[in-house]
Amino acid sequence: MLRTFFALFILGVATVLFVAGFRGSPSKLPPIEIFRDMDHQPKMQPQHSTNFFADGRSARKPVDGTIPLGYTVPGRYLQAGAKNGTLDSVGFANLNDYLHTGRVGDAYGDGIPVEMNAALLDRGQERFDINCAICHGMLGDGNGVVKQIANWAVVANLQDDRIRQQPDGQIFNTITHGKNTMGAYGPNIAIEDRWAIVAYVRALHKSQRVVLADLPVEKQKELQQPAKK
Ligand code: HEC
Repeated sequence: MLRTFFALFILGVATVLFVAGFRGSPSKLPPIEIFRDMDHQPKMQPQHSTNFFADGRSARKPVDGTIPLGYTVPGRYLQAGAKNGTLDSVGFANLNDYLHTGRVGDAYGDGIPVEMNAALLDRGQERFDINCAICHGMLGDGNGVVKQIANWAVVANLQDDRIRQQPDGQIFNTITHGKNTMGAYGPNIAIEDRWAIVAYVRALHKSQRVVLADLPVEKQKELQQPAKK
């Protein structure tokens, strides 16, 4: 019994020494592969050829119409810097003009730096309803679904005078970078769309607390007429 044990023990030690002892020392023999499927995986290696594709190349060209992050589709810029292709090392722009930051120098600027028209406001409404209304409510009054579900009292009321008085650039900056508990939406919302949302927030401001004198004269007259009996 004991003899068999010692024989096996010594054999075991010898095997371990033999296998482990040579680890790290150079050898011309092919390596011992215990789990072959881990060494030889069915995958493409960069800069290696393959017989999987007809043209023999493992690297594929991007699908037609692919737009690299940060670059532009004609007439629409997806990310900061896309307008003139100035991007930093990770593909985001490091431009610091008003369009991209909402700032003029160190101060927030005012005004919508993209062409303002009905289509922009429609786009802004659509993007606001998708991205912002869940928290801020369809009217921006802070009564979004989130409040009803989570009783999250801190959601800002965008109809507050405090927000009404903020310059456009500051609201743009809040969308881009977030504020306190609000996350950043810059990575998800294209520059142009952020400005469209700012414009729409202004439209929401106008939609509430309207005074008669702000309306076109015909509308004022219409409203001043006594209700028909
Ligand atoms: C997940 C919820 C959520 C979403 C979505 C959200 N916000 Fe907010 N937002 C908040 C909260 C919470 C605050 C208050 C942050 C704080 O504590 O100051 C806030 C604050 C703000 C403010 C006020 C910032 C200030 O100066 O005090 C503005 C403006 C604003 N949000 C605009 C937007 C716009 C525009 C969108 C859509 C692009 C948006 N938010 C999407 C939660 C959200």
